[in-house]
Amino acid sequence: MRTVHSLKELRTILRGYRQQGKTIGLVPTMGNLHEGHISLVRKAAEMADVVVTSIFVNPMQFGAGEDLETYPRTLTEDQDKLASAGNTLVFAPSAEEIYPEGLASQTQVVVPDVSDGHCGASRPGHFEGVATVVTMLFNMVQPDFAVFGEKDFQQLAVIRKMVRDLMIPVDVVGGPTVREDDGLAKSSRNGYLTPEERQIAPAVYQTLQATAAKITDGRTDFQALESEAEQSLGDAGLRPDYFNIVNSQTLKPATAEDREITILTAAFLGTTRLIDNLSLTR
Ligand code: PAJ
Repeated sequence: MRTVHSLKELRTILRGYRQQGKTIGLVPTMGNLHEGHISLVRKAAEMADVVVTSIFVNPMQFGAGEDLETYPRTLTEDQDKLASAGNTLVFAPSAEEIYPEGLASQTQVVVPDVSDGHCGASRPGHFEGVATVVTMLFNMVQPDFAVFGEKDFQQLAVIRKMVRDLMIPVDVVGGPTVREDDGLAKSSRNGYLTPEERQIAPAVYQTLQATAAKITDGRTDFQALESEAEQSLGDAGLRPDYFNIVNSQTLKPATAEDREITILTAAFLGTTRLIDNLSLTR
């Protein structure tokens, strides 16, 4: 497995694969890889001849006061994990390689509607940063398809709409959320949790499951369900950022007519922000 840091090298290698008629799958990541990321790489390896995993902590998607500086950077460990998962090529560029003229003058991609609300409301500019870097990665790698995790449900919706709206010739493939044994969704940010916080963290998924069970039982008073869930997150020692029951397609507040429902939540444990979601059919 090779690792390249420059766009020039990346393009040279990929041109060779394309000339040989090989299909290319892309898995964009910010590194510090865990089983969630690796499941996406394995999925890509089943579908394509060549798998490119990008590792880039994208400064454009971090807000002021967020964890850009402290975000874990673990390239050597990541390379070992990728090699055993069937990855072909790692693309690990520097910020200068991706944004040579700096962030302030960088052309941006804005995806309206699905970027509003939820994480988009709490993290202004975040999805513009994600949509921009993913568009650039698509143009740099020109993959046949790219794999993203359902763990970041709103991000996946933003990317699907972006690809549709801009006629980008890349298939977007979703992969299921990989969890710890106690239900906590695997995340690079779980490493920030103290042992005490780690004990509390499974309450996020437990609250999603409890709410899903109430909806499956027939309750449609979604606002009351949201308040009850925020209350139980608070009781467990979390500080809810949002807990929203939405239509799975539009990500707008669910109505009693909706069949496909997704529950989206973000909550703080100390300074760590955890996100998770659960989809259900009524
Ligand atoms: P990152 O948080 O590193 O996640 C990379 C990919 O792994 C995303 O598609 C994410 O949804 C997926 N993922 C994370 N945790 C997962 C889990 N527990 N189970 C399954 N998949 C999981 O998301 C980003 O990076 C960035 O925003 C990026 C798309 C790379 C753009 O910078």
